[in-house]
Amino acid sequence: MEALHPDVSEVVLSEQDIKDIVARMGKEITADYKDKNPLVVAVLKGAVVFTADIMRAIDCPIAIDFMAVSSYGDGVKSSGVVRIVKDLDTKIEGRDVLIVEDILDSGLTLSYLIRMLEARGAKSVNVAAFLVKDVAGKKPAVHPHYVGSHVPDEFIVGYGLDYAERYRNLPYIGILKPEVYS
Ligand code: PRP
Repeated sequence: MEALHPDVSEVVLSEQDIKDIVARMGKEITADYKDKNPLVVAVLKGAVVFTADIMRAIDCPIAIDFMAVSSYGDGVKSSGVVRIVKDLDTKIEGRDVLIVEDILDSGLTLSYLIRMLEARGAKSVNVAAFLVKDVAGKKPAVHPHYVGSHVPDEFIVGYGLDYAERYRNLPYIGILKPEVYS
């Protein structure tokens, strides 16, 4: 096994855990979208790694497109401000859209995106979130149709998730040591 990155205190999901989760989600999505030719919308940048995996675990025709939004900048806490950095190339009127996200925290990013895609005339808009962060006393604004795993309210990185653009390439999900960001 690869050595743990020195800035990571603990592995939350190993590469094998991730593989198992992706396979399970792929089966669920395949069963629901068999005859629908959905448009899979990846939300850059964090979702890029999960998207590459989940699209290959979906065993029915799909198309993909990308959006880039930003809610965090380089900081640690969600600002609640969603900025569209790159819009879709695809017309989504009448399409079944599946938004793919790496992590749902407050849910503000997703609730904004869902409303926007529905307003553009999508036939349906569902969400596949690899991770949902459990924050005590807080309910996320959105409940994804497909959830990979719940994670504790820690600063997690890897598998697409960054801190100040670093650590996205770690093949596992780990907890970032507080001294790295404080
Ligand atoms: C992260 C993540 C989600 C959002 C979730 O993106 O990819 O899009 O935050 O937070 P929320 O549920 O509180 O809205 P980020 O803005 O960090 O951009 P990135 O994917 O480019 O890293």
